[in-house]
Amino acid sequence: MRRRQSPAIAAIVLSCASFACSGPTFTFPEDFVWGTATAAYQVEGAWNEDGKGRSVWDTYTNDLNLAGGETANVAIDQYHRYREDVALLKAMGIQSYRFSVAWARVLPEGTGEVNPAGLDYYSRLVDELLAAGIEPAVTLYHWDLPQALADRGGWRTRESVEWFNEYARIMFEALGDRVGTWITFNEPYIDAIIIEGSIRAALDPNIDPVPEPFAMRAEVQAGQAIVSHHWMLAHARAIETYRSLGLDGNIGITLSVSPAYPATDSDDDAAAATIADGLHNRWFLDPVLKGTYPEDVRALYSAHADVGIRDGDMEVIAANRADFLGVNYYSPTRVRAEPESAHFGIASLPNSDEQPAFNGEVYPDGLYDLLMRIDRDYGKPLIYITENGAGFGPEDDRLIDGEVHDVLRRDYIRRHLIAAHRAIQDGVNLQRYYLWSCFDNFEWIWGTTRRFGLVYVDFETQERIWKDSAHDFQSYIRDNGFN
Ligand code: FCB
Repeated sequence: MRRRQSPAIAAIVLSCASFACSGPTFTFPEDFVWGTATAAYQVEGAWNEDGKGRSVWDTYTNDLNLAGGETANVAIDQYHRYREDVALLKAMGIQSYRFSVAWARVLPEGTGEVNPAGLDYYSRLVDELLAAGIEPAVTLYHWDLPQALADRGGWRTRESVEWFNEYARIMFEALGDRVGTWITFNEPYIDAIIIEGSIRAALDPNIDPVPEPFAMRAEVQAGQAIVSHHWMLAHARAIETYRSLGLDGNIGITLSVSPAYPATDSDDDAAAATIADGLHNRWFLDPVLKGTYPEDVRALYSAHADVGIRDGDMEVIAANRADFLGVNYYSPTRVRAEPESAHFGIASLPNSDEQPAFNGEVYPDGLYDLLMRIDRDYGKPLIYITENGAGFGPEDDRLIDGEVHDVLRRDYIRRHLIAAHRAIQDGVNLQRYYLWSCFDNFEWIWGTTRRFGLVYVDFETQERIWKDSAHDFQSYIRDNGFN
Protein backbone atom coordinates (compact mmCIF):
# COMPACT_ATOMS: atom_id res chain seq x y z
CA MET A 1 0.00 0.00 0.00
CA ARG A 2 3.03 2.26 -0.27
CA ARG A 3 2.26 5.27 -2.36
CA ARG A 4 4.45 7.76 -4.13
CA GLN A 5 3.04 11.24 -4.06
CA SER A 6 2.65 12.85 -7.47
CA PRO A 7 4.14 16.36 -7.88
CA ALA A 8 0.63 17.78 -8.38
CA ILE A 9 -0.63 16.32 -5.12
CA ALA A 10 2.52 17.43 -3.30
CA ALA A 11 1.86 20.98 -4.55
CA ILE A 12 -1.71 20.93 -3.25
CA VAL A 13 -0.58 19.62 0.12
CA LEU A 14 2.06 22.35 0.28
CA SER A 15 -0.30 25.13 -0.64
CA CYS A 16 -2.78 23.87 1.94
CA ALA A 17 -0.09 23.98 4.58
CA SER A 18 0.99 27.49 3.75
CA PHE A 19 -2.51 28.94 3.50
CA ALA A 20 -3.90 27.07 6.50
CA CYS A 21 -6.42 25.08 4.51
CA SER A 22 -9.43 24.51 6.72
CA GLY A 23 -10.95 21.14 5.90
CA PRO A 24 -12.51 19.83 2.76
CA THR A 25 -14.47 22.09 0.45
CA PHE A 26 -16.82 19.27 -0.46
CA THR A 27 -17.97 17.97 2.87
CA PHE A 28 -20.71 15.35 2.82
CA PRO A 29 -23.47 15.05 5.44
CA GLU A 30 -22.35 13.43 8.66
CA ASP A 31 -24.39 10.27 8.13
CA PHE A 32 -23.40 9.90 4.47
CA VAL A 33 -22.40 6.31 3.63
CA TRP A 34 -19.45 5.46 1.36
CA GLY A 35 -19.51 2.06 -0.29
CA THR A 36 -18.43 -0.09 -3.19
CA ALA A 37 -20.44 -2.59 -5.23
CA THR A 38 -19.99 -5.95 -6.95
CA ALA A 39 -22.20 -8.69 -8.39
CA ALA A 40 -21.97 -12.42 -7.72
CA TYR A 41 -21.27 -13.58 -11.26
CA GLN A 42 -18.58 -10.96 -11.73
CA VAL A 43 -16.52 -11.79 -8.63
CA GLU A 44 -17.34 -15.10 -6.98
CA GLY A 45 -16.00 -17.82 -9.27
CA ALA A 46 -16.52 -21.30 -7.75
CA TRP A 47 -19.14 -21.72 -10.43
CA ASN A 48 -19.84 -25.40 -9.77
CA GLU A 49 -18.60 -25.87 -6.22
CA ASP A 50 -20.37 -26.90 -3.03
CA GLY A 51 -23.61 -27.75 -4.74
CA LYS A 52 -24.10 -24.56 -6.73
CA GLY A 53 -26.45 -24.88 -9.71
CA ARG A 54 -25.86 -23.31 -13.09
CA SER A 55 -26.97 -19.83 -13.95
CA VAL A 56 -27.77 -18.51 -17.41
CA TRP A 57 -24.45 -16.66 -17.37
CA ASP A 58 -22.60 -19.93 -16.79
CA THR A 59 -24.32 -21.13 -19.93
CA TYR A 60 -23.70 -17.92 -21.89
CA THR A 61 -19.97 -18.05 -21.28
CA ASN A 62 -19.26 -21.80 -21.10
CA ASP A 63 -21.59 -23.08 -23.80
CA LEU A 64 -22.52 -20.12 -25.98
CA ASN A 65 -19.18 -18.37 -26.00
CA LEU A 66 -20.72 -14.96 -25.38
CA ALA A 67 -17.61 -13.57 -23.68
CA GLY A 68 -15.17 -14.36 -26.48
CA GLY A 69 -14.15 -17.68 -24.95
CA GLU A 70 -13.69 -16.35 -21.42
CA THR A 71 -15.77 -17.54 -18.49
CA ALA A 72 -16.24 -16.33 -14.90
CA ASN A 73 -15.78 -19.86 -13.59
CA VAL A 74 -13.00 -18.44 -11.40
CA ALA A 75 -13.52 -14.67 -11.82
CA ILE A 76 -11.71 -12.98 -8.91
CA ASP A 77 -12.33 -16.00 -6.72
CA GLN A 78 -14.09 -14.01 -4.03
CA TYR A 79 -15.93 -17.16 -2.95
CA HIS A 80 -12.64 -18.43 -1.54
CA ARG A 81 -10.99 -15.09 -0.83
CA TYR A 82 -13.81 -13.19 0.84
CA ARG A 83 -11.91 -12.80 4.10
CA GLU A 84 -8.96 -11.20 2.35
CA ASP A 85 -11.32 -8.99 0.33
CA VAL A 86 -13.26 -7.86 3.38
CA ALA A 87 -9.96 -7.01 5.08
CA LEU A 88 -9.07 -4.91 2.06
CA LEU A 89 -12.42 -3.11 2.15
CA LYS A 90 -11.85 -2.42 5.81
CA ALA A 91 -8.39 -1.03 5.18
CA MET A 92 -9.90 1.32 2.60
CA GLY A 93 -12.44 2.51 5.15
CA ILE A 94 -15.43 1.25 3.13
CA GLN A 95 -18.59 1.66 5.19
CA SER A 96 -20.97 -0.51 3.18
CA TYR A 97 -20.39 -3.33 0.70
CA ARG A 98 -23.05 -3.98 -1.91
CA PHE A 99 -22.87 -7.55 -3.24
CA SER A 100 -25.37 -9.86 -4.89
CA VAL A 101 -26.48 -13.37 -4.10
CA ALA A 102 -26.20 -16.04 -6.79
CA TRP A 103 -29.71 -17.49 -6.74
CA ALA A 104 -28.47 -20.84 -8.08
CA ARG A 105 -25.94 -21.12 -5.24
CA VAL A 106 -28.79 -21.03 -2.75
CA LEU A 107 -31.41 -22.86 -4.81
CA PRO A 108 -29.58 -24.97 -7.42
CA GLU A 109 -32.84 -25.69 -9.25
CA GLY A 110 -34.17 -22.18 -8.70
CA THR A 111 -37.01 -23.39 -6.51
CA GLY A 112 -37.44 -26.25 -4.04
CA GLU A 113 -34.47 -27.61 -2.20
CA VAL A 114 -32.08 -25.17 -0.53
CA ASN A 115 -28.34 -25.80 -0.79
CA PRO A 116 -27.14 -25.25 2.81
CA ALA A 117 -23.51 -24.71 1.75
CA GLY A 118 -24.58 -21.92 -0.60
CA LEU A 119 -26.64 -20.16 2.02
CA ASP A 120 -23.82 -20.59 4.49
CA TYR A 121 -21.39 -18.75 2.20
CA TYR A 122 -23.53 -15.60 2.30
CA SER A 123 -24.02 -15.95 6.02
CA ARG A 124 -20.26 -16.10 6.55
CA LEU A 125 -19.69 -13.16 4.22
CA VAL A 126 -22.24 -11.07 6.13
CA ASP A 127 -20.65 -11.99 9.47
CA GLU A 128 -17.19 -11.15 8.17
CA LEU A 129 -18.40 -7.75 6.97
CA LEU A 130 -20.17 -6.96 10.21
CA ALA A 131 -17.11 -7.97 12.22
CA ALA A 132 -15.11 -5.51 10.09
CA GLY A 133 -17.64 -2.76 10.79
CA ILE A 134 -18.93 -2.80 7.19
CA GLU A 135 -22.65 -2.73 6.50
CA PRO A 136 -23.79 -5.38 4.03
CA ALA A 137 -26.18 -4.27 1.26
CA VAL A 138 -27.59 -7.28 -0.56
CA THR A 139 -28.82 -7.35 -4.15
CA LEU A 140 -31.06 -10.36 -4.68
CA TYR A 141 -30.89 -10.42 -8.45
CA HIS A 142 -28.00 -9.18 -10.53
CA TRP A 143 -28.80 -10.98 -13.80
CA ASP A 144 -27.85 -14.60 -13.02
CA LEU A 145 -31.11 -16.51 -13.33
CA PRO A 146 -30.77 -20.20 -12.44
CA GLN A 147 -30.54 -22.11 -15.71
CA ALA A 148 -33.17 -24.55 -14.42
CA LEU A 149 -35.66 -21.68 -14.34
CA ALA A 150 -34.64 -20.44 -17.76
CA ASP A 151 -35.45 -23.95 -18.96
CA ARG A 152 -38.94 -23.54 -17.50
CA GLY A 153 -39.58 -20.35 -19.44
CA GLY A 154 -37.61 -17.90 -17.31
CA TRP A 155 -38.92 -14.40 -16.76
CA ARG A 156 -41.31 -14.65 -19.69
CA THR A 157 -43.62 -16.82 -17.63
CA ARG A 158 -45.72 -15.26 -14.90
CA GLU A 159 -44.71 -18.05 -12.54
CA SER A 160 -41.32 -16.34 -12.31
CA VAL A 161 -42.86 -13.80 -9.92
CA GLU A 162 -43.53 -16.52 -7.38
CA TRP A 163 -40.18 -18.24 -7.98
CA PHE A 164 -38.48 -14.98 -7.08
CA ASN A 165 -40.71 -14.43 -4.10
CA GLU A 166 -39.84 -17.87 -2.72
CA TYR A 167 -36.13 -17.20 -3.16
CA ALA A 168 -36.42 -13.71 -1.64
CA ARG A 169 -38.21 -15.10 1.42
CA ILE A 170 -35.43 -17.64 1.97
CA MET A 171 -32.83 -14.87 1.87
CA PHE A 172 -34.82 -12.54 4.16
CA GLU A 173 -35.30 -15.34 6.67
CA ALA A 174 -31.65 -16.35 6.56
CA LEU A 175 -30.00 -12.92 6.67
CA GLY A 176 -32.73 -10.44 7.60
CA ASP A 177 -31.57 -10.26 11.22
CA ARG A 178 -28.15 -9.02 10.11
CA VAL A 179 -28.74 -7.28 6.77
CA GLY A 180 -30.60 -3.96 6.85
CA THR A 181 -30.30 -2.93 3.19
CA TRP A 182 -31.92 -5.00 0.43
CA ILE A 183 -32.06 -4.40 -3.30
CA THR A 184 -34.50 -6.59 -5.19
CA PHE A 185 -33.23 -6.15 -8.76
CA ASN A 186 -30.32 -4.57 -10.57
CA GLU A 187 -31.00 -2.51 -13.70
CA PRO A 188 -34.16 -3.89 -15.33
CA TYR A 189 -33.66 -1.76 -18.45
CA ILE A 190 -30.13 -2.99 -19.12
CA ASP A 191 -30.75 -6.65 -18.37
CA ALA A 192 -34.44 -7.48 -18.85
CA ILE A 193 -34.74 -5.33 -21.95
CA ILE A 194 -31.35 -4.79 -23.59
CA ILE A 195 -29.13 -7.75 -22.72
CA GLU A 196 -31.77 -10.45 -22.63
CA GLY A 197 -33.45 -8.93 -25.71
CA SER A 198 -30.20 -8.98 -27.68
CA ILE A 199 -29.42 -12.54 -26.62
CA ARG A 200 -32.93 -13.69 -27.44
CA ALA A 201 -32.69 -12.10 -30.87
CA ALA A 202 -29.27 -13.64 -31.46
CA LEU A 203 -30.42 -17.15 -30.53
CA ASP A 204 -33.87 -17.23 -32.09
CA PRO A 205 -33.82 -18.02 -35.81
CA ASN A 206 -37.25 -16.42 -36.14
CA ILE A 207 -35.96 -13.03 -35.03
CA ASP A 208 -33.70 -10.91 -37.20
CA PRO A 209 -30.45 -10.24 -35.38
CA VAL A 210 -30.35 -6.98 -33.44
CA PRO A 211 -27.81 -4.66 -35.09
CA GLU A 212 -27.12 -2.47 -32.01
CA PRO A 213 -28.50 -3.26 -28.56
CA PHE A 214 -29.48 0.34 -27.90
CA ALA A 215 -31.10 0.63 -31.32
CA MET A 216 -33.08 -2.56 -31.05
CA ARG A 217 -36.00 -2.85 -33.43
CA ALA A 218 -39.21 -1.79 -31.74
CA GLU A 219 -40.89 -5.20 -32.02
CA VAL A 220 -37.93 -6.99 -30.45
CA GLN A 221 -37.69 -4.50 -27.61
CA ALA A 222 -41.44 -4.54 -27.02
CA GLY A 223 -41.21 -8.32 -26.77
CA GLN A 224 -39.06 -7.85 -23.66
CA ALA A 225 -41.55 -5.59 -21.89
CA ILE A 226 -43.34 -8.62 -20.45
CA VAL A 227 -40.05 -9.63 -18.82
CA SER A 228 -39.58 -6.22 -17.25
CA HIS A 229 -43.19 -6.23 -16.05
CA HIS A 230 -42.60 -9.55 -14.30
CA TRP A 231 -39.53 -8.02 -12.64
CA MET A 232 -41.65 -5.09 -11.43
CA LEU A 233 -44.29 -7.43 -10.05
CA ALA A 234 -41.67 -9.64 -8.44
CA HIS A 235 -40.06 -6.56 -6.91
CA ALA A 236 -43.38 -5.50 -5.37
CA ARG A 237 -44.21 -9.00 -4.14
CA ALA A 238 -40.79 -9.31 -2.51
CA ILE A 239 -41.31 -6.01 -0.68
CA GLU A 240 -44.67 -7.30 0.53
CA THR A 241 -42.99 -10.48 1.79
CA TYR A 242 -40.19 -8.53 3.44
CA ARG A 243 -42.62 -6.37 5.35
CA SER A 244 -44.83 -9.32 6.26
CA LEU A 245 -41.86 -10.84 8.08
CA GLY A 246 -41.68 -7.81 10.34
CA LEU A 247 -38.12 -6.96 9.32
CA ASP A 248 -37.27 -3.33 9.79
CA GLY A 249 -34.49 -2.68 7.29
CA ASN A 250 -34.77 -0.75 4.04
CA ILE A 251 -35.72 -2.43 0.80
CA GLY A 252 -35.48 -0.87 -2.64
CA ILE A 253 -34.46 -1.48 -6.22
CA THR A 254 -31.59 -0.34 -8.43
CA LEU A 255 -32.40 1.32 -11.75
CA SER A 256 -30.00 2.49 -14.42
CA VAL A 257 -30.93 6.07 -15.12
CA SER A 258 -29.61 7.93 -18.13
CA PRO A 259 -30.77 11.50 -18.70
CA ALA A 260 -31.87 11.90 -22.33
CA TYR A 261 -30.87 15.22 -23.89
CA PRO A 262 -32.15 16.30 -27.31
CA ALA A 263 -29.32 16.61 -29.83
CA THR A 264 -30.62 20.00 -31.04
CA ASP A 265 -33.32 22.40 -29.93
CA SER A 266 -35.74 21.23 -32.63
CA ASP A 267 -39.19 20.02 -31.56
CA ASP A 268 -38.57 16.67 -33.23
CA ASP A 269 -35.42 16.03 -31.23
CA ALA A 270 -37.20 17.10 -28.04
CA ALA A 271 -39.95 14.55 -28.79
CA ALA A 272 -37.29 11.90 -29.52
CA ALA A 273 -35.64 12.60 -26.16
CA THR A 274 -39.00 12.17 -24.42
CA ILE A 275 -39.32 8.73 -25.99
CA ALA A 276 -35.77 7.74 -25.00
CA ASP A 277 -36.40 8.96 -21.48
CA GLY A 278 -39.62 6.96 -21.40
CA LEU A 279 -37.99 3.73 -22.58
CA HIS A 280 -34.94 3.90 -20.34
CA ASN A 281 -36.13 5.81 -17.27
CA ARG A 282 -39.86 6.42 -16.82
CA TRP A 283 -40.85 2.83 -17.71
CA PHE A 284 -39.21 1.89 -14.39
CA LEU A 285 -39.24 5.02 -12.25
CA ASP A 286 -43.00 5.42 -12.61
CA PRO A 287 -44.06 1.97 -11.41
CA VAL A 288 -41.44 1.92 -8.64
CA LEU A 289 -42.19 5.40 -7.28
CA LYS A 290 -45.74 6.15 -8.48
CA GLY A 291 -47.28 2.72 -8.95
CA THR A 292 -48.24 3.38 -12.59
CA TYR A 293 -46.75 2.89 -16.06
CA PRO A 294 -46.26 5.89 -18.33
CA GLU A 295 -49.05 5.79 -20.93
CA ASP A 296 -46.84 6.89 -23.85
CA VAL A 297 -44.39 4.00 -23.43
CA ARG A 298 -47.15 1.52 -22.70
CA ALA A 299 -48.75 2.49 -26.01
CA LEU A 300 -45.44 2.11 -27.88
CA TYR A 301 -44.89 -1.37 -26.48
CA SER A 302 -48.51 -2.55 -26.69
CA ALA A 303 -48.55 -1.74 -30.41
CA HIS A 304 -46.16 -4.69 -30.89
CA ALA A 305 -46.60 -7.12 -28.02
CA ASP A 306 -48.56 -8.15 -24.94
CA VAL A 307 -46.86 -6.37 -22.04
CA GLY A 308 -48.38 -8.89 -19.63
CA ILE A 309 -50.19 -6.49 -17.31
CA ARG A 310 -53.16 -8.28 -15.76
CA ASP A 311 -56.00 -7.15 -13.50
CA GLY A 312 -54.71 -6.43 -10.03
CA ASP A 313 -51.02 -6.13 -11.01
CA MET A 314 -50.90 -2.36 -10.70
CA GLU A 315 -52.51 -2.51 -7.27
CA VAL A 316 -49.75 -4.83 -6.03
CA ILE A 317 -47.11 -2.56 -7.53
CA ALA A 318 -48.68 0.60 -6.09
CA ALA A 319 -49.17 -0.89 -2.63
CA ASN A 320 -45.51 -1.82 -2.19
CA ARG A 321 -43.43 1.28 -2.61
CA ALA A 322 -39.69 0.95 -2.18
CA ASP A 323 -38.03 2.54 0.86
CA PHE A 324 -35.28 3.93 -1.35
CA LEU A 325 -34.35 4.22 -4.97
CA GLY A 326 -30.97 2.88 -6.02
CA VAL A 327 -29.57 4.84 -8.96
CA ASN A 328 -26.83 3.58 -11.25
CA TYR A 329 -25.40 6.36 -13.36
CA TYR A 330 -22.66 6.08 -15.95
CA SER A 331 -23.52 8.36 -18.87
CA PRO A 332 -26.26 10.40 -20.56
CA THR A 333 -27.97 9.74 -23.90
CA ARG A 334 -27.99 12.37 -26.68
CA VAL A 335 -31.03 11.76 -28.82
CA ARG A 336 -32.24 12.83 -32.22
CA ALA A 337 -35.34 12.10 -34.27
CA GLU A 338 -34.62 9.58 -37.02
CA PRO A 339 -37.85 8.81 -38.87
CA GLU A 340 -36.20 5.89 -40.71
CA SER A 341 -35.09 4.23 -37.49
CA ALA A 342 -36.87 1.00 -36.60
CA HIS A 343 -36.03 1.86 -32.98
CA PHE A 344 -39.16 3.91 -32.29
CA GLY A 345 -38.08 6.56 -34.81
CA ILE A 346 -35.19 7.74 -32.66
CA ALA A 347 -31.40 7.41 -32.64
CA SER A 348 -28.62 8.33 -30.26
CA LEU A 349 -25.45 10.22 -31.10
CA PRO A 350 -22.11 8.39 -30.86
CA ASN A 351 -19.80 9.26 -28.00
CA SER A 352 -17.32 11.88 -29.13
CA ASP A 353 -15.20 12.03 -25.96
CA GLU A 354 -11.50 12.32 -26.67
CA GLN A 355 -10.72 9.54 -24.21
CA PRO A 356 -13.83 7.39 -24.29
CA ALA A 357 -14.88 5.44 -21.22
CA PHE A 358 -16.35 1.96 -21.61
CA ASN A 359 -19.72 3.09 -20.37
CA GLY A 360 -20.26 6.08 -22.62
CA GLU A 361 -19.83 9.83 -22.48
CA VAL A 362 -18.31 11.26 -19.31
CA TYR A 363 -20.77 13.89 -18.14
CA PRO A 364 -20.97 14.52 -14.38
CA ASP A 365 -23.71 17.14 -14.82
CA GLY A 366 -25.91 14.29 -16.01
CA LEU A 367 -25.76 12.87 -12.49
CA TYR A 368 -26.74 16.22 -11.01
CA ASP A 369 -29.58 16.63 -13.51
CA LEU A 370 -31.03 13.19 -12.92
CA LEU A 371 -30.89 13.49 -9.13
CA MET A 372 -32.67 16.86 -9.27
CA ARG A 373 -35.23 15.53 -11.71
CA ILE A 374 -36.06 12.43 -9.64
CA ASP A 375 -36.30 14.60 -6.54
CA ARG A 376 -38.67 16.99 -8.31
CA ASP A 377 -40.84 14.56 -10.29
CA TYR A 378 -41.12 11.73 -7.80
CA GLY A 379 -41.71 13.39 -4.44
CA LYS A 380 -38.23 13.60 -2.93
CA PRO A 381 -37.49 9.89 -2.52
CA LEU A 382 -34.57 8.62 -0.48
CA ILE A 383 -31.83 7.93 -3.03
CA TYR A 384 -28.69 5.83 -2.91
CA ILE A 385 -26.25 5.93 -5.80
CA THR A 386 -25.76 2.17 -6.05
CA GLU A 387 -23.28 2.35 -8.94
CA ASN A 388 -21.08 4.94 -10.57
CA GLY A 389 -17.61 4.43 -11.91
CA ALA A 390 -15.53 4.05 -15.01
CA GLY A 391 -12.93 2.21 -17.00
CA PHE A 392 -10.93 3.79 -19.83
CA GLY A 393 -8.84 0.95 -21.17
CA PRO A 394 -5.33 -0.42 -20.75
CA GLU A 395 -3.55 2.96 -20.77
CA ASP A 396 -5.32 4.11 -17.62
CA ASP A 397 -4.99 0.74 -15.89
CA ARG A 398 -1.37 0.01 -16.67
CA LEU A 399 0.51 -1.75 -13.89
CA ILE A 400 3.99 -0.23 -13.60
CA ASP A 401 6.31 -1.26 -10.79
CA GLY A 402 3.43 -2.35 -8.62
CA GLU A 403 1.45 0.87 -9.11
CA VAL A 404 -1.46 1.92 -11.28
CA HIS A 405 -1.78 5.64 -11.99
CA ASP A 406 -5.38 5.66 -13.17
CA VAL A 407 -5.68 9.40 -13.64
CA LEU A 408 -8.82 9.24 -15.76
CA ARG A 409 -10.71 7.14 -13.23
CA ARG A 410 -9.57 9.43 -10.40
CA ASP A 411 -10.88 12.44 -12.27
CA TYR A 412 -14.15 10.68 -13.16
CA ILE A 413 -14.89 9.74 -9.55
CA ARG A 414 -14.01 13.13 -8.14
CA ARG A 415 -16.13 15.03 -10.66
CA HIS A 416 -19.14 12.77 -10.13
CA LEU A 417 -18.84 13.13 -6.38
CA ILE A 418 -18.82 16.90 -6.80
CA ALA A 419 -22.04 16.61 -8.85
CA ALA A 420 -23.58 14.44 -6.14
CA HIS A 421 -22.49 16.90 -3.48
CA ARG A 422 -24.13 19.76 -5.39
CA ALA A 423 -27.39 17.83 -5.57
CA ILE A 424 -27.30 17.26 -1.82
CA GLN A 425 -26.69 20.98 -1.28
CA ASP A 426 -29.71 21.65 -3.46
CA GLY A 427 -31.93 19.51 -1.30
CA VAL A 428 -31.83 16.00 -2.80
CA ASN A 429 -32.18 13.25 -0.21
CA LEU A 430 -29.08 11.37 -1.33
CA GLN A 431 -27.57 9.34 1.49
CA ARG A 432 -25.18 6.85 -0.03
CA TYR A 433 -22.63 6.44 -2.81
CA TYR A 434 -21.44 3.00 -3.95
CA LEU A 435 -18.58 3.04 -6.37
CA TRP A 436 -18.44 0.43 -9.14
CA SER A 437 -16.26 -1.29 -8.32
CA CYS A 438 -13.80 -1.97 -5.58
CA PHE A 439 -12.13 -4.71 -7.60
CA ASP A 440 -11.49 -5.24 -11.30
CA ASN A 441 -13.79 -8.09 -12.19
CA PHE A 442 -15.49 -10.07 -14.94
CA GLU A 443 -17.34 -7.53 -17.06
CA TRP A 444 -20.07 -9.72 -18.64
CA ILE A 445 -19.58 -10.23 -22.38
CA TRP A 446 -16.32 -8.26 -22.21
CA GLY A 447 -14.84 -10.65 -19.69
CA THR A 448 -11.59 -9.50 -18.11
CA THR A 449 -10.87 -6.90 -20.78
CA ARG A 450 -12.77 -4.08 -19.10
CA ARG A 451 -11.43 -3.03 -15.73
CA PHE A 452 -13.56 -0.87 -13.43
CA GLY A 453 -11.85 -1.42 -10.07
CA LEU A 454 -10.20 0.80 -7.50
CA VAL A 455 -8.08 -2.26 -6.94
CA TYR A 456 -6.19 -3.92 -9.77
CA VAL A 457 -6.64 -7.67 -9.96
CA ASP A 458 -4.07 -9.87 -11.63
CA PHE A 459 -6.42 -12.48 -13.07
CA GLU A 460 -3.62 -15.07 -13.22
CA THR A 461 -2.33 -14.83 -9.68
CA GLN A 462 -5.38 -13.18 -8.05
CA GLU A 463 -3.09 -10.58 -6.54
CA ARG A 464 -4.89 -7.37 -5.51
CA ILE A 465 -3.03 -4.07 -5.99
CA TRP A 466 -4.31 -0.68 -4.93
CA LYS A 467 -4.61 1.82 -7.77
CA ASP A 468 -4.17 5.55 -7.17
CA SER A 469 -7.98 5.90 -7.21
CA ALA A 470 -8.17 3.53 -4.23
CA HIS A 471 -5.96 5.85 -2.21
CA ASP A 472 -8.12 8.81 -3.22
CA PHE A 473 -11.28 6.98 -2.21
CA GLN A 474 -9.75 6.01 1.11
CA SER A 475 -8.99 9.66 1.86
CA TYR A 476 -12.47 10.82 0.75
CA ILE A 477 -14.02 8.40 3.21
CA ARG A 478 -11.60 9.33 5.98
CA ASP A 479 -12.33 13.06 5.52
CA ASN A 480 -15.98 12.56 4.52
CA GLY A 481 -15.19 14.70 1.50
CA PHE A 482 -12.27 16.44 -0.16
CA ASN A 483 -10.84 19.76 -1.22
C1 FCB B 1 -23.61 -1.90 -14.78
C2 FCB B 1 -23.80 -3.27 -14.15
C3 FCB B 1 -22.57 -3.79 -13.44
C4 FCB B 1 -21.31 -3.48 -14.22
C5 FCB B 1 -21.25 -2.01 -14.55
C6 FCB B 1 -19.98 -1.60 -15.23
O1 FCB B 1 -24.53 -1.72 -15.81
O2 FCB B 1 -24.86 -3.22 -13.21
O3 FCB B 1 -22.73 -5.16 -13.21
O4 FCB B 1 -21.29 -4.26 -15.35
O5 FCB B 1 -22.35 -1.68 -15.36
